[in-house]
Amino acid sequence: MKYDINSFTLEEKLSLLTGKNSWQTPDANGKLPTMWLADGPHGVRKSIDENALPSTVMPCLVNIANSWNKELAYLDGQTIADDCIEKEVDLLLAPGVNIKRTPLCGRNFEYFSEDPFLAGTLAKAYIEGVQDKGIGTSLKHFALNNREYERLWQSSEADERTMREIYFTAFEIALKAKPWTVMSSYNAVNGVYAVENKWLIKDVLRGDLGFDGLVVSDWGSCKVPYRTTKASVDLIMSHNSDTVDNVKKALKDGLITMEEVDACVNRLLELLEKNQANAHKRIITTTPEQRHQNAVEIAKESFVLLKNDGVLPIKGGKIKLIENSDILIGGTGSAKVTAEYQTQTLSNELQKQLTDATIFVSPPYFNETISHTLKHELVLARQADTVILTVNGRAEGENYDREEITLSKVQEERILNVAKVNPNVVVVVYAGSAIDMRNWIDKVKAVVFAGLGGQGVNQALAEVLCGKTSPSGKLSETFPLSIEDTPTGRAIGNSMVERYTEGVFVGYRYYDTNNKPVLFPFGHGLSYAKFEYSNLKIEKKGEAEFTVSYDITNLSNIDAKEVSQVYVSDVFANVSRPEKELKGFSKDLIKAGQTVNVKVDLDFRSFAYYNQPLKRWQVDNGEFEILVGASSRDIRLKESIFIDLPEKTQLSK
Ligand code: BGC
Repeated sequence: MKYDINSFTLEEKLSLLTGKNSWQTPDANGKLPTMWLADGPHGVRKSIDENALPSTVMPCLVNIANSWNKELAYLDGQTIADDCIEKEVDLLLAPGVNIKRTPLCGRNFEYFSEDPFLAGTLAKAYIEGVQDKGIGTSLKHFALNNREYERLWQSSEADERTMREIYFTAFEIALKAKPWTVMSSYNAVNGVYAVENKWLIKDVLRGDLGFDGLVVSDWGSCKVPYRTTKASVDLIMSHNSDTVDNVKKALKDGLITMEEVDACVNRLLELLEKNQANAHKRIITTTPEQRHQNAVEIAKESFVLLKNDGVLPIKGGKIKLIENSDILIGGTGSAKVTAEYQTQTLSNELQKQLTDATIFVSPPYFNETISHTLKHELVLARQADTVILTVNGRAEGENYDREEITLSKVQEERILNVAKVNPNVVVVVYAGSAIDMRNWIDKVKAVVFAGLGGQGVNQALAEVLCGKTSPSGKLSETFPLSIEDTPTGRAIGNSMVERYTEGVFVGYRYYDTNNKPVLFPFGHGLSYAKFEYSNLKIEKKGEAEFTVSYDITNLSNIDAKEVSQVYVSDVFANVSRPEKELKGFSKDLIKAGQTVNVKVDLDFRSFAYYNQPLKRWQVDNGEFEILVGASSRDIRLKESIFIDLPEKTQLSK
């Protein structure tokens, strides 16, 4: 059905600029149907009053990112969409594609990566998964919302090249999936609130990035309604009771035009039309049990085996499990999903996999409690062939940042005590972002980063720990040695402004360019299999387009998946550029003893930087290195190519 903007009175039009309530779009005195909006991103959180309806708790985006698997990101989206259909939610307020600029950011677990290519590519697949089932998405939070501290007020101050190359690029790639909506962020960008920032929303998002859908404000971020409408943020959420009077007065005072108001109203009407046009796609194709199975399948590929001195996989024997009783499986704040499924303990799941093993389980402990049974725990740990110790990262969540990136002292001491009595300790870390492990990592044999793996986390972990599935996750963010060692350190701005002084040197772009030691590099993750990379070939497809192909051989006797990464390095750059940047990746199942040929396409943007004086993406002619690796610090193959674009592309306008 087509809606006619002329059928509304001025009052009704103005009422269409803000939500009917916290979760529904406005209805102009009942003239329009409403759409129901709900968070995202790890399952649906349909809030009725204070309570959210229970639903499948999927692995958090940190896990989706660590899986490096586009098909699984798509499956994640499809699975959540089924929950949306069941709960009559029209639009999911997800995914978030903000860059992990610092491991302190409290919402890193609901973002993808420190790298815009990886973040954007996986977000695109997630959006396609949701929207192919007729449910809308909201790509958020545009832009530069990279920490929680003073998020409502602080201005993120960055130069244009940095914004375009790092922060906007993740959105640009995800926008190819045509999300129905984009959500603006709370913070200001270079002094102007995102929600009022005409340059950001109109010029960049709608102009340069070509987004033609509805822009929704983050909840409660609107300060002055007419400024928000003027910036072409179409829908002020949640309900803002000042909107009608404020915009009416601004119209009278000549501060905003009727065309500007109509443009926002029209985009809302188009969204409602899109919602109706997609209704026929809303067919539930999974049962809750199948959704649970999907959560398990995704989790299985999302764990990162950080270290393994031969103790994993566990094949049996005497195992001592010291299990944290409140393991972290999901997000907090707006990303909290109310589970309908009781997460199983790791001990139960492990026993199912290793039926012959003797598993001693300590009484479960809570994060900060010293076990009263510690002595007994150590006696059993001493007798065991292997000890598995599960630990949680520190509190992280919406509205607050992490205070430290280490584990709590109590948990670190627990690891050290256990490691004193048993040489074969495996530590499983449930956390949303990078952890500083320096105090204990050398004392243990293996470490698995489980992320926040959703309701099926332990079922999936048991399979990986005992080798039924080889781990295949890789880090989507660098694990630094310490917070002091990161490009941003402990700086948090002065509550008014935070300067992005590191520029484009975020994450591995900083560590690798400056040759800084790290705990675990970007892209790192071990497998039970051994892979050999060979036969790099680069085929020229156009002036600045190439297809990179290479072989990966699985030298072991187990089937396993490998994530291979393609980086580009500008050898003689005219501007200061990172030593290398991720421009392609592939995840492939390689059967025992088999070889697969991998192909990755590179295009103009794979070689370009944003040239500020020329105000355009620029590729400078000359030599580029193509690096193929198992992580950013484990480059297995490399070869130079030369780009020779026509002279006019090298000139200033
Ligand atoms: C969050 C958004 C979320 C919205 C609605 C805000 O506080 O920043 O990510 O979608 O609330 O819950």
